[in-house]
Amino acid sequence: MYTPLPFAPFAPAFRVALPFGLVVGVHLPPGPDPVAHPILARLHPDERAYARTLGGFRQVQFVGGRLALGDLLGELGMRRAAILPNVHGAPELAPGFVASISHKQNLAVALVARGTGVGVGVDIEDTDRHRPGVAARVLRAEELAFVERLPTDRQWVDTAVRFSVKESVYKALHPFLLRYIGFGEVAVWPEPDGNDRIEPFLRPLEGPFRFEARHIWLGSRVLSMVRVRPATAP
Ligand SMILES: CC(C)(COP(=O)(O)OP(=O)(O)OC[C@H]1O[C@@H](n2cnc3c(N)ncnc32)[C@H](O)[C@@H]1OP(=O)(O)O)[C@@H](O)C(=O)NCCC(=O)NCCS
Repeated sequence: MYTPLPFAPFAPAFRVALPFGLVVGVHLPPGPDPVAHPILARLHPDERAYARTLGGFRQVQFVGGRLALGDLLGELGMRRAAILPNVHGAPELAPGFVASISHKQNLAVALVARGTGVGVGVDIEDTDRHRPGVAARVLRAEELAFVERLPTDRQWVDTAVRFSVKESVYKALHPFLLRYIGFGEVAVWPEPDGNDRIEPFLRPLEGPFRFEARHIWLGSRVLSMVRVRPATAP
């Protein structure tokens, strides 16, 4: 299902239809050099103007994410309008479409789906290098207790999956709550089949929401995606 494409900066890395939408990955160049004009020319003029306000890796990542988004929207037949960050930093699409973006140093990914009244989130995290301190920062006490009972060599990977899913939850849920959502406000229970159970601990009167979450592996990198809708919606 996941077949990596050959490397060329800002070229598609993969394209895959996943349960919550279409996902495209775009290769990013290794350095923070300004993005060349022929690449910028592939963006909507307003996105290009915005990209020119950014510097270093931030510009590279923004451009990669927008190229991935543009690729997907073209496939879904959407007229190519500028997709700028809203005041919260989220990509804002025309009604009827939802999207989410994530990037790491050499890859940008975008998830796009049709839908209204629904939020989607995508996130990628690397698991090849153990990052001490992440578990204590992002896990609830009961998650930490579970992770600490796993064999040592599985503890970091399990933590990274939960971390990624939580960031995807943030991106999918933020449009409904419009506030900072702490890592302790959700517990994530990964399943071996890639389905993840989300247990929310939001504030009283927030929700209820229906969460769907999945993760897949791109080599040693985890890609998570989350779909959120109010529990009363059909
Ligand atoms: C906003 C946040 C989730 C972004 O994640 P990140 O790992 O830093 O960066 P990523 O590359 O994965 O994602 C960046 C993209 O997130 C998107 N994004 C930023 N703010 C967003 C928001 N409020 N809502 C939805 N998407 C948002 C943007 O598309 C951005 O890319 P772009 O600026 O090029 O368009 C993260 O910085 C953050 O604040 N996390 C803490 C809160 C949290 O995750 N809580 C868990 C709750 S369960």
